[in-house]
Amino acid sequence: MILLDGRKTSSDLKLEIAEEVNRMKSSGQNIPHLAAVLVGEDGASLTYVGSKVRSCQQVGFQSTLIHLPDNISEAELLKEVARLNADKDIDGYIVQLPLPKHIDENKILMAIDPLKDVDGFHPSNFGKMALEMDTFIPATPFGILELLERYNVETKGKHVVVVGRSHIVGRPMSILLSRKGNPGNATVTLTHSNTKNLSSLTNQADIIVMALGIPKFLKANMVKEGVVIIDVGITRVPSNESPKGYEIVGDVDFEHVAPKCSYITPVPGGVGPMTIAMLLKNTLLACKRNQN
Ligand code: GUN
Repeated sequence: MILLDGRKTSSDLKLEIAEEVNRMKSSGQNIPHLAAVLVGEDGASLTYVGSKVRSCQQVGFQSTLIHLPDNISEAELLKEVARLNADKDIDGYIVQLPLPKHIDENKILMAIDPLKDVDGFHPSNFGKMALEMDTFIPATPFGILELLERYNVETKGKHVVVVGRSHIVGRPMSILLSRKGNPGNATVTLTHSNTKNLSSLTNQADIIVMALGIPKFLKANMVKEGVVIIDVGITRVPSNESPKGYEIVGDVDFEHVAPKCSYITPVPGGVGPMTIAMLLKNTLLACKRNQN
């Protein structure tokens, strides 16, 4: 069993990006600038956005955090989005999800300039991704592709079962792995809460992508020997053993499943760190596009 080490791979990637930023600086080009909009005080969102801003500093990007109150109106948030669209200094930005209930997420995502949409969530970017056109690929699926590629995990002709059809992970993952190219060329089954007899499908899978958000859902009797497992789950579970009072648990019963795997991502330290590295990669791409 080989661990797909997202911490090491993301730190390699960040070094590569930092070198590129240095080259850009020394040739007098503008350096990438990422902005992040955070609404409210959700604990997990605060952690993620903090980590995104810190990662910008690590690779030499400029970053701007726009922290807005929980009770901001949809109209005010749309104004902020319009301001970021018009700001020539900012190459790309993200609006951290989830947003408070009184704000229509789709309305906000639709208002983001697709050329600055480094999350790849705008319908025009999502459509381009499905049509195999050049665009921003959502960071989590993009990170999974990068891990598969760097560890030379073969996807061509394999049966991939994706569990979970979220717009951020499951759905784009199913599209990306069925596209032409490498990683890709797989036969993909996208499963969800209405899927019947899920374990008969996961038992046939060469590669399983778990993006459900239910801790330890995938058990050893649901997978075949030699399977490759990508665990996107990151649920905070209360724990007395951790000083933080919680531990991060994936969608896979790692202890019992890992011995059957050829490759598996750990949680934490698998997909999570890759997501941030790929957001940086998309921002670098946006910056380069803006200079051409
Ligand atoms: N919430 C959880 N994951 C993400 C992400 O990748 N981007 C944004 N904007 N919000 C998220």
